[in-house]
Amino acid sequence: MGKPLIVGNWKMHKTASEAATFVQALQQRFPAALTRIELVLAPPFTALESVRTALGPSSWIGLAAQNLHWESQGAFTGEISGPMLRDLGCRHVIIGHSERRTLFGERDRDIQKKVRAALTHGLRPILCVGESLSEREGGQTGSVVTAQLHGALRHVTAEELATITIAYEPVWAIGTGRAATTEQAVEVHQSIRTYIVTNWTQAAVSTVRVIYGGSVTPQNIASLLASDAIDGALVGGACLDPESFATIAHVAESSHT
Ligand code: PGA
Repeated sequence: MGKPLIVGNWKMHKTASEAATFVQALQQRFPAALTRIELVLAPPFTALESVRTALGPSSWIGLAAQNLHWESQGAFTGEISGPMLRDLGCRHVIIGHSERRTLFGERDRDIQKKVRAALTHGLRPILCVGESLSEREGGQTGSVVTAQLHGALRHVTAEELATITIAYEPVWAIGTGRAATTEQAVEVHQSIRTYIVTNWTQAAVSTVRVIYGGSVTPQNIASLLASDAIDGALVGGACLDPESFATIAHVAESSHT
């Protein structure tokens, strides 16, 4: 398995100028590059350029977008394409976040096209999957997550899978302060790995990263990363403050030896 991946999903927070100030404050907390983790910022589209400039030309901190459209260009008012994101220095793109699914009606079919577009344009997808509270309580966690994986990935080759990160984000844990326990996360991560072995190969499962998201904090990150089944974190609320995001990154760095 590669280095743990820590991604800060800013959602709809920070203007371009606030983003530049944030990046300066964040960089002050890293006198030297962290080498044992991969750290990625996912600001809104409007702040990508300012974050890139603030990070500087060959920064060790990477850039992700929060969404993309599946077409490369055309009459799609308000949409942003893979080539546009690549040109701004993005290397990753979050796809199928539960807020996109529930608030903006994204369906598995759309998500599958977005995964394909990301792969075509050299962006590494961070595919989000996860069950709602009622689905968990109804014992459907495994089937919901499997259906989401199937919907998004069924045309992906084993080679392509190696560039994909799967983010298990239980909907009930997002923004609630109620993170999944390490045991709950590990159980689902293992079922994701089983799904991959069954549908691709044993080799594929050793290259795909499965990260956890949902109320990750400086307090719970060490326990989550203590498990071999958890390859990193997708952080929302706790990434908006430079101090707490830097702490999460430092804890992740020291937990991976
Ligand atoms: P949260 O968000 O850390 O605020 O729960 C995580 C996410 O939605 O990616």
